[in-house]
Amino acid sequence: MRLSRYFLPVLKEAPSDAQIASHQLMLRAGMIRQEAAGIYAWLPLGLRVLNKIEQIVREEMDRAGAIELLMPTLQLADLWRESGRYDAYGPEMLRITDRHERELLYGPTNEEMVTEIFRASVRSYKDLPKNLYHVQWKFRDERRPRFGVMRGREFLMKDAYSFDLDAEGARKSYNRMFVAYLNLYARMGLKAVPMRADTGPIGGDLSHEFIVLAETGESAVFCHKDLVEMDPPGADVDWYGDLQPLVDQRTALYAATEEMHDEAAFDAIPEGDRLSARGIEVGHIFSFGTKYSEPMKANVMGPDGKEVAVQMGSYGVGVSRLLGAIIEASHDEGGIIWPESVAPFHVGIVNMRQGDAACDGACEAAYKALQAAGVDVLYDDTDARGGAKFATMDLIGLPWQLIVGPKGVAEGVVELKNRKTGERVSEPLDAVIARLTGKAAA
Ligand SMILES: Nc1ncnc2c1ncn2[C@@H]1O[C@H](COP(=O)(O)OP(=O)(O)O)[C@@H](O)[C@H]1O
Ligand SMILES: [Mg+2]
Repeated sequence: MRLSRYFLPVLKEAPSDAQIASHQLMLRAGMIRQEAAGIYAWLPLGLRVLNKIEQIVREEMDRAGAIELLMPTLQLADLWRESGRYDAYGPEMLRITDRHERELLYGPTNEEMVTEIFRASVRSYKDLPKNLYHVQWKFRDERRPRFGVMRGREFLMKDAYSFDLDAEGARKSYNRMFVAYLNLYARMGLKAVPMRADTGPIGGDLSHEFIVLAETGESAVFCHKDLVEMDPPGADVDWYGDLQPLVDQRTALYAATEEMHDEAAFDAIPEGDRLSARGIEVGHIFSFGTKYSEPMKANVMGPDGKEVAVQMGSYGVGVSRLLGAIIEASHDEGGIIWPESVAPFHVGIVNMRQGDAACDGACEAAYKALQAAGVDVLYDDTDARGGAKFATMDLIGLPWQLIVGPKGVAEGVVELKNRKTGERVSEPLDAVIARLTGKAAA
């Protein structure tokens, strides 16, 4: 992409109502624009990152055996009356009436609808387990939308729903999601810690929030510090085998949010291993038995010929919130530092003297070669001054900057700067392109 033809409305200063770094940087980098309280337009640069995050989530869900579908944003109120939640949900639900006076709502979540889809066609235990998921916009009329995409009213969520015959199957489905979550956050460069969450009247231990530690996090969290540095299990696990040891390895260590905090249990950890911090909830998994299947009559025939209400769980990832969480975890005074896996472009070309034949020639050659190799590249071909171009590149946080200036070009070299470490190397263009494309120089 040529910057002169792109749409990247960067701002010198963040609007004063943006309080935390990620919100300020997303606005300044021209990634989002607020259209109403808690409602954002995703500008091209922001959308590229959102799509990359969504794709990582999708790949890890698929790997763990979940199946993608797409449910609508609008749902019938009558469906929610079946579970009793139409009245119970309260003012966070956006209620809509259509021209026929039919009551609808903009979905804040999808348990009822997925249960309705399931019960319409699944009749036998032989069709279980199943896990259906989608990535769809949600609306919750939050009392205090704030911190940009962190707590929006309209936000993108991945929500998966599992269906099993019995509690043992439900635990296995839960474990698959638990492990998939560890992997997916790690792929985005995040250290997300599973923490015990409230199960309310459902009871049991099958509810965890996945928390990214950050000073600006909304909740106070407490955990054993080993959990933060633990490596993810990786893609190569036996998904339908026994995942319990991988889960136990983590749940054996103390980790809880404020709501679930047990001072005595925390104090039992050796003092040097205690971590008391703030965190961002980037995911939440919950096994809730027959809470929806029973009132909604989602029954299956068991092996004994008797009908039973199916055991369910739901598994959310805050896809749009993750942009904020990643930036909170990875930025400096200059701007965002994207992990390679979610970066909007892999490399930015900075032409220090646009209009100079030698500089333009080197930049065009680099741009063509990188594009031909399938590398996402943003070429700053505008006539802004070098200093301004550097500031924009640092702000938008692309992992690599390829800097082309008249002096270097005269000597036959260009510069490659790593955004994260600030390291620079001066090399012939061929060698730099070889580095960026992972191929040896010709
Ligand atoms: N208002 C919001 N804005 C952005 N992301 C949200 C919002 N509410 C929830 N999420 C994300 O969706 C995930 C699943 O939501 P859920 O656990 O149902 O929400 P809550 O914790 O608010 O009850 C959360 O872990 C969080 O990452
Ligand atoms: Mg939650």
